[in-house]
Amino acid sequence: MPVLRPEWVTMPDSPDPSVPPAAEDPAPATPYEAIGGETAVRALVDRFYDLMDLEPGYRELRDLHPTPMEGSRDKLFWFLCGWLGGPDRYVERFGHPRLRARHLPYSIGVRERDQWMACMTQALAETGVDPALATRLQASFANTADWMRNRGA
Ligand code: HEM
Repeated sequence: MPVLRPEWVTMPDSPDPSVPPAAEDPAPATPYEAIGGETAVRALVDRFYDLMDLEPGYRELRDLHPTPMEGSRDKLFWFLCGWLGGPDRYVERFGHPRLRARHLPYSIGVRERDQWMACMTQALAETGVDPALATRLQASFANTADWMRNRGA
């Protein structure tokens, strides 16, 4: 009589490895898809710049930007689409982002970096980005924002 070893028994709720995952609910391939594509990225960028205009706590960050900020909105929107793994709209228009070089005309220290991060964190929360995705994005934004510092303090 053959011995029935436990690993040969298919447990009722163990997925059969020979069956591919359900096609109707694939995991989003990129953060761009996970956040909700172009519409969600635009909403995030619009909220980010609206908050910059509205919140006194972001005054120094706001003052670095031109008036009106329509051009800034478009550029960050185009950039983030590609940065999140979607269409490379910024690169199509302007070539390599050279982000650090493009920020050199602006005096960016810890205060400006922290205001940028706080403003983006608030915009992520207020536009309803899934908290787990928001946490991942904040970590990446924090690296990029810190890299943009060109002043000691
Ligand atoms: C660390 C704090 C930061 C400050 C104070 C800052 C400030 C600015 C300012 C003043 C501009 C010029 C806006 C204009 O020309 O209309 C700008 C442009 C831009 N910023 Fe930032 N920024 C920061 C961080 C970031 C980060 C983290 C990103 C990306 C994740 C980013 C992406 C961009 C892009 C794509 C542009 C347009 C560049 C161009 O084509 O001229 N910035 N930023």
